[in-house]
Amino acid sequence: MSAPKKLFIKTYGCQMNVYDSERMAEALGGEGYVETKSPDDADMILLNTCHIREKAAEKVYSELGRFKGLKAEKPDLKIGVAGCVAQAEGQEIMRRQPLVDLVVGPQSYHRLPEMEAKAREGEKVLDTDFPEEDKFEKLKNRPKAKRGPTAFLTVQEGCDKFCAFCVVPYTRGAEVSRPADRILREAQDLVERGVREITLLGQNVNAYHGAGPNGDMTLAQLIWELDKVDGLERIRFTTSHPNDMQDDLIEAHGTCAKLMPYLHLPVQAGSDKILKRMNRAHTAESYLRLIERIRAARPDILISGDFIVGFPEETEADFQATLDLVEEVKYGTAYSFKYSTRPGTPAAERPQVDPAEADDRLQRLQALLTKQQREVQDSMVGRDVTVLFEKVGRFPGQMVGKSDYLHAVHVADCDRAIGDLARVRILSSGANSLAGALID
Ligand code: 5AD
Ligand code: SF4
Repeated sequence: MSAPKKLFIKTYGCQMNVYDSERMAEALGGEGYVETKSPDDADMILLNTCHIREKAAEKVYSELGRFKGLKAEKPDLKIGVAGCVAQAEGQEIMRRQPLVDLVVGPQSYHRLPEMEAKAREGEKVLDTDFPEEDKFEKLKNRPKAKRGPTAFLTVQEGCDKFCAFCVVPYTRGAEVSRPADRILREAQDLVERGVREITLLGQNVNAYHGAGPNGDMTLAQLIWELDKVDGLERIRFTTSHPNDMQDDLIEAHGTCAKLMPYLHLPVQAGSDKILKRMNRAHTAESYLRLIERIRAARPDILISGDFIVGFPEETEADFQATLDLVEEVKYGTAYSFKYSTRPGTPAAERPQVDPAEADDRLQRLQALLTKQQREVQDSMVGRDVTVLFEKVGRFPGQMVGKSDYLHAVHVADCDRAIGDLARVRILSSGANSLAGALID
């Protein structure tokens, strides 16, 4: 038998790309590839790219340029670009960088084995279509390989919201939900392979409306079906849009024991003028009332958010409204970004905020968010939480896991195994994690 071919995948961006990279590795596993951690001994290099950050395409071109020497040494090496930059740039990638053998958009990963075969024959292959079929259903699974205790599971892709700053509706296409039976089968399979916690993924996950046995299902209905899967202990989902936060999902946060008390609910800004220009279709007030209702259902829920500062025409008063909203919500975690233009999106054409001013606002917002994050984390001290252990710690006998609220927790003198759940009393709060002790 010939030696297995080696595959090196470099993943950028969001969890959806992490999930997609795993599926691509599995699909190419069926073609005899095993993964390697280094591009140097690879027979195929795939860059799974992200387009959400500024100059994403430029970074991909410079990364590709670095493989020039490798390809000269090893003419059989195949180089591919996947993900949202592949979708956005398409043919342009091969034109600008002749090293590239294949370009595959996020909706075409199930065609990778055929594309790889063509590339092996010396063809340049491109597939950035948005086909109707379910790519995950077509991606072959490796037989029952053991998994870690946590996994992502994509339930919907794409977005119809068209926020004025965002490329996702263009790179990932229209919103599509996977049918519930396929998701449940995949969840069952993950649990059989050792998974205890599943994070349901979607660019607009709470807009989920996949086909079920009696018509379309909501995300909450899907969560209740997953709740019945024996051996699955925890359910999370990300990322949600405030306008799709339906009553049954809010209620599930109060009543479904497996649904974790954590919600990533981006607001982006606190000024109604800016929210309108962002095409968010909600106001600061409606967001705050929504948070109130979610907290009424689940008082201890940890709220996470995304923010953009320096959006075109944002004044100091608009920015102040963002700070005010943050003060009111009290975020447990948050991601904040300086606005940067994405060619082709509506906001790209508008008058830009002075970059120095935007930098200053980002620093002020991040200072407030970091302070809140720390306060929420510190408030865990003295409380009892459930921890799912994910890895061994740096010190003998120490284990590290995540609490229900997604805080990292270090536990000393811990006789539990990876994949175990245990009640832990939180004793102290450090820079980025908590420390606790097992409760007998
Ligand atoms: N500029 C800055 N931040 C952006 N995001 C999306 N597009 C842009 C952009 N053009 C941020 C949003 C989104 C997160 C994933 O990335 O806050 O919620
Ligand atoms: Fe982008 Fe999210 Fe807005 Fe959709 S809802 S356009 S993914 S920021």
